[in-house]
Amino acid sequence: MSSILVTGGAGYIGSHTVVELFRAGYNPVIIDNFSNSEKSVLKGIESITGERITLYTGDCNDADFVNYIFESDPEITGCIHFAAYKAVGESVEKPVEYYKNNINSLLVLLTSMMQFNIKNLVFSSSCTVYGQPDELPVTESSPVKKAESPYGNTKQICEEVIEDTVAAAGEIKAVSLRYFNPVGAHPSSQIGELPIGTPNNLVPFLTQTVAGIRKELVIFGDDYDTPDGTCVRDYIHVLDLAQAHVKALDYLDKKKNDSLYRVFNVGTGNGHTVLDVIKTFESVTGEKVNYRVGTRRAGDVEKVWANADKINKELNWKTQLTLKQALNDAWSWQKVLKNRGKQ
Ligand code: UFG
Repeated sequence: MSSILVTGGAGYIGSHTVVELFRAGYNPVIIDNFSNSEKSVLKGIESITGERITLYTGDCNDADFVNYIFESDPEITGCIHFAAYKAVGESVEKPVEYYKNNINSLLVLLTSMMQFNIKNLVFSSSCTVYGQPDELPVTESSPVKKAESPYGNTKQICEEVIEDTVAAAGEIKAVSLRYFNPVGAHPSSQIGELPIGTPNNLVPFLTQTVAGIRKELVIFGDDYDTPDGTCVRDYIHVLDLAQAHVKALDYLDKKKNDSLYRVFNVGTGNGHTVLDVIKTFESVTGEKVNYRVGTRRAGDVEKVWANADKINKELNWKTQLTLKQALNDAWSWQKVLKNRGKQ
């Protein structure tokens, strides 16, 4: 059974991907420094899968540590690199920390992969690289726009680093997955998103509001050029997104080329407004959302959703779960957290 190193494997998307890797017959090996995740996640993964997890606690910026893992586990044939800082607003305040952490950890990983002859890499990228696209839905050949934040810029730079490394090394194969908006939780309610402090993202803020942790949800502007004036995004169930990583690994495994770099959008192909999300949540859960319309948030793009034809065709991946299911799962997870006395 081939082992896959999952950096940031205890995080939101990482933990769901670990579950899907087990299900697909891979043996995931997690590396996490728990700077933005909790050890309890591992219990959740183990209770879903019934498998014991191999965990290395430490930082991907530490080359000796990463080398030690590859030395200790010669079965590792590929890596999925999630570990990164991800808060857009914080990146504006602490750009140096974001550039240092997000870029250096990739450089360390690539160096170590080359040293240990590990060929397959899946990189966690974002649709943020498109900014506000000129044409919708956005395809992979749409231009990469100047990043709105240091966080977004780290994703662009990392993609370029991987592309250049693949071209030069001649023996690494890599896929960058450009995520649209991941939402929801595992349908078992054993794992989900664990925002630290006040959430920045819509769905955790919404579920916390309904749970009574936040007073009200503020919609950031309703004067955009969209059907109801609120911003449009492509919300994808986190479990569907997790499966895309497994498909990407399968794809890399099958490719015999010594060198290959591919970029894929991972979205549903459908756009939903903020009001759609609120109304869908209300209809699926029967709960009322206390919300009001406020002013626009700086840096928000008006509308973006994916053209997912390329990943549908080339990776044989398609979204299977709906926004309704995602919001229902997010709400079930929120109730579990509340019972645990968390958030
Ligand atoms: N929104 C609100 N109120 C809130 C939170 C969000 O109205 O309290 C709105 C936003 O204005 C936006 C939509 O809900 O229209 C989604 O916002 P999120 O913060 O959930 O997601 P973003 O699309 O802003 O950001 C996400 C990821 C980023 C990534 C970006 C790429 O969180 O990491 O997509 O476009 F960079």
